[in-house]
Amino acid sequence: MNLKGRDFLKLLDFTPEEILYLLDLAAQLKEKKKKGIAVDTLRGKNVALIFEKTSTRTRCAFEVAAHDLGLGTTYLDPSGSQIGKKESIADTARVLSGMFEGIEYRGYGQEIVEELARYSSVPVWNGLTNEFHPTQMLADLLTIREQFGYLKGIRLTYMGDARYNMGNSLMVACAKMGMHFTACTAAKYFPNEVLTAQCRKIAAETGGSVTLTEDVKSGTRGADVIYTDVWVSMGEPDQVWEERIRDLSPYQVNADVMKNAGENAVFMHCLPAFHDLKTKIGAEMGERFGIREMEVTDEVFESSQSRVFEEAENRMHTIKAVMAATI
Ligand code: CP
Ligand code: NVA
Repeated sequence: MNLKGRDFLKLLDFTPEEILYLLDLAAQLKEKKKKGIAVDTLRGKNVALIFEKTSTRTRCAFEVAAHDLGLGTTYLDPSGSQIGKKESIADTARVLSGMFEGIEYRGYGQEIVEELARYSSVPVWNGLTNEFHPTQMLADLLTIREQFGYLKGIRLTYMGDARYNMGNSLMVACAKMGMHFTACTAAKYFPNEVLTAQCRKIAAETGGSVTLTEDVKSGTRGADVIYTDVWVSMGEPDQVWEERIRDLSPYQVNADVMKNAGENAVFMHCLPAFHDLKTKIGAEMGERFGIREMEVTDEVFESSQSRVFEEAENRMHTIKAVMAATI
């Protein structure tokens, strides 16, 4: 398997074998890191990390993984560069290609990261767009495989806003790996028809499936993984909170949902999560709408079924694999 020079923009661009290769490489790198064995084979090279939206996990994962690999890093924050304001994506891509061996980009539309990759002569990695979050997918697949020992046949139910980056990406990831994906949410939050049809076609070849349902009981019954994400994503206007809380509250992950899921079910979330009032936005929504938690209850978040922090750690090992494989 040779992924040198490849961009990592969305899982749709990768075969199941290539995805497995990246997962295996991540698992190896994780084991080496735990044993204190250094893998700094990319010393002397450098990567640019562009963030047009904020981040804790993705930024830290890229920086730590890069440092472990011996790579130098330059972080460009949401306000600290010329990108899009004074300089086009095409020009930025060609400037950065002359200085760096890889470019990470987190931002808005998927077409922006695709354009960056088109004009860049070095690999471009998608650190989240409105449509896709592919590095998160590798971490999630690794976490699921660590939990169950395999991926094919796993039943994953996603609750909440399934038409955005996380719902889209999980549907693609499940279809690619022969898993059974269910979006369990109000119909207006189902993934779009074109992507759903594309994923159903992929799933037909891999032995997976794609189900869209509004029914919580049937949608979560027997699931191996219950997954959710924030109800309002970065870049969305503040005004949508009220409607989202109203529409998506019936799809909150709570103890009843987990009880209805499989006996060995785990809870996953890309994070950050609103599971209590200990955040600025959480407290504000608590005050405005009289709620204590949103997409997941604190009980489930803190339960022994929750794998969210293992998942977060795996961001680093899997991002390291993407950089090691493509540079
Ligand atoms: N899950 C995730 O991408 O987290 P950050 O926004 O903190 O990077
Ligand atoms: N849907 C969320 C994911 C954060 C990792 C967002 O885009 O804000």
